[in-house]
Amino acid sequence: MLYVEILGNLREMARDEVKAMLELAGGGIAGRDYLLLKLDAGEEAFPYLDRLGLAHEYGKLIIEADSVEELLERAGEVEWPIKGKFKVDTETMANCRHGVLDLPRKLGAVIYSQGFRVNLSRPDTLVRVYCGEKLYAGIRFHYFSPKDFERRKAHHRPFFRPISLHPRVSRALVNLTKARKEILDPFMGAGGVLMEAGLLGLKVYGVDIKSEMVEGAEMNLRHYGIEDYTLKLGDATRLEELFPGKRFEAIATDPPYGTSATLAGRERGELYRKALKSMYSVLMEGGRLAIAFPTDFDGEEEAERVGFNLVGKYYQRVHKSLERYFYVFEK
Ligand SMILES: C[S@@+](CC[C@H](N)C(=O)[O-])C[C@H]1O[C@@H](n2cnc3c(N)ncnc32)[C@H](O)[C@@H]1O
Repeated sequence: MLYVEILGNLREMARDEVKAMLELAGGGIAGRDYLLLKLDAGEEAFPYLDRLGLAHEYGKLIIEADSVEELLERAGEVEWPIKGKFKVDTETMANCRHGVLDLPRKLGAVIYSQGFRVNLSRPDTLVRVYCGEKLYAGIRFHYFSPKDFERRKAHHRPFFRPISLHPRVSRALVNLTKARKEILDPFMGAGGVLMEAGLLGLKVYGVDIKSEMVEGAEMNLRHYGIEDYTLKLGDATRLEELFPGKRFEAIATDPPYGTSATLAGRERGELYRKALKSMYSVLMEGGRLAIAFPTDFDGEEEAERVGFNLVGKYYQRVHKSLERYFYVFEK
């Protein structure tokens, strides 16, 4: 059994991102204890789990126990798949019900007695203990370094616009569509969503109504080594004309929220409604749309009106004057 530790904000979205990846890999979520997900999946899921945006790490779950005593007892019985030197590291989640202060030392001693050696500063293997309703011990396989995402945040890109989503959130939007080969962002802006999709090896298609954005997005994509892209200057409410006969596997996008210049003079509700209709018409049957709308627009009702089915809806408060939902719809 595997585990994933998801990030604490946008938890439900993070869980559904994992679920979507397991639907592609074959497998499922077998249980959950706050931020820890137990996965019914094997090695074949690794390439899909590697795609995650809203996750801290994943690894192999070795022990699940109801008490510290039980954990230590079981730790003496299992074969630890440890390579080189190890370190025990504890994650005390907000719902932790056990006294774990001394646990790293005690568990370390049990594993040490099986012949494994400790290195606290540069371990080859990290033994992770999670404390929630229950206790869990596992081996970390993959850590999603914040630095990796940070270096793609808006102000690190050659073409800078302060309107972008966090790269982790953009990544999750792409994954929630379950895209395997391509994605369209019809309001691409500086190309944040397309960058994340391109880094996953997807072919990316982008549209923006402003030529500076089309040029800027191209600059950003090239900067991060993405070459398989088609970018067009055009209107997200007229996608059929921009891509005649084309049906996309998936769409992920973050339309403009403001009353400002980003709306290019349109009334916001009308822009959203027309864009939803146009996106529906260029999406494949069964294809998914992941999209953000401010909370004062009823995205669910409007999307269902054009034929979409709601798959997921996640709330985020960005700041005092911006609250939004991320939606996932299916055609
Ligand atoms: C919020 S930004 C997108 C930010 C993007 N997700 C990113 O991470 O960089 C929205 C973009 O939609 C563009 N836009 C506004 N109206 C449009 C329309 N009718 N068709 C296409 N693009 C439009 C704006 O020029 C702006 O660049």
